Amino acid sequence: MTTLLEIRNLSKHFDLRLGAFGERGARVHALDDFSVDIAEGETLSIVGESGCGKSTTGFAILNLHHPSGGSVLYKGTDLAQLDEDAMRPFRRDLQIVFQDPYSTLNPRMTIGEALSEPILFHKLASKADLPARLAQLLQDVGLSARFASRYPHELSGGQRQRVAIARALACQPRFIVCDEAISALDVSVQAQILNLLLDLQDKYGLTYLFIAHDLAVVRHISDRVGVMYLGRLAELAPAANLFATPLHPYTRALLSAVPEANPRAPRNRQMLQGEVPSPLAPPPGCRFHTRCPLARGLCRSQTPAFREITPGHLTACHAVTSPTATNWETPA
Ligand SMILES: Nc1ncnc2c1ncn2[C@@H]1O[C@H](COP(=O)(O)OP(=O)(O)OP(=O)(O)O)[C@@H](O)[C@H]1O
Ligand code: SF4
Ligand SMILES: [Mg+2]
Repeated sequence: MTTLLEIRNLSKHFDLRLGAFGERGARVHALDDFSVDIAEGETLSIVGESGCGKSTTGFAILNLHHPSGGSVLYKGTDLAQLDEDAMRPFRRDLQIVFQDPYSTLNPRMTIGEALSEPILFHKLASKADLPARLAQLLQDVGLSARFASRYPHELSGGQRQRVAIARALACQPRFIVCDEAISALDVSVQAQILNLLLDLQDKYGLTYLFIAHDLAVVRHISDRVGVMYLGRLAELAPAANLFATPLHPYTRALLSAVPEANPRAPRNRQMLQGEVPSPLAPPPGCRFHTRCPLARGLCRSQTPAFREITPGHLTACHAVTSPTATNWETPA
């Protein structure tokens, strides 16, 4: 397995500006210490509650938000060190598809014009070859060549998302961040777009970072799943392991709330107490300690290391020393 992206201790903090002179105010800890290797051709999904840092992770990897710390090694270059000019040669390879295709599609451009833009910018086809390339792209995403002359408002939500995917594909990328790319669509259309993404992955050897809050969806399409809580990875595992043997108390609570995500899981729903703390002042130690039923003194003072418990299955919890249930009764 070839590693496409080697991400180490990636962090992103947003400094909120206050006052007329832009003095630094509070700091949002949106992402801290995110480390993972993403293999060529894999689908790595990131799940977690709203505001936990999923989009920030995608943006920081692509250097759309310049990281506050850490590294993103791609083709021997640390993208986190690059300014926008130096990023330009890498932009083509690294694409993003958003939840709302309106944000990427100019309402005054036809679909053909929108798809031509990146092709001409990156010089991926001559003007003479452009019509054939557009027809191929539209065909790849299941649309007929006639769509080239239409405007975004003339399309359904699913068709617009197909165009957004075609626009990403136009760059002949290797890696695509799908940031809630299907979340706004009807359930039946979601399945079609998911299948399209999987077909395109097979055809073009694409690697996906798939950001979603729907655990049932990621179960079926992911090679691995990472669970985030308040800006940190709580758990990372092959998808089947995560759903069959969730280790982190937060993952267990999340899964217990979505029985269809894991039909074999016991149906005793674990309600989490309290609210997610503010990322402006994340709790010290384990960020989950204010809501964790297993929290002890150590959890309040020491950040748990992100450790491998079984091959490929990592979690950040002082209490977990093995996947067997008995450890949950006796946290460290
Ligand atoms: N540009 C920004 N400036 C300040 N804070 C930001 C900025 N972008 C994100 N944040 C904050 O960083 C945290 C993580 O946001 P992010 O958008 O990554 O969450 P998310 O997991 O993608 O949420 P959602 O599921 O709602 O999309 C949030 O507290 C958010 O308010
Ligand atoms: S480290 Fe402590 S507070 Fe955090 S998840 Fe584990 S038991 Fe809970
Ligand atoms: Mg988001």
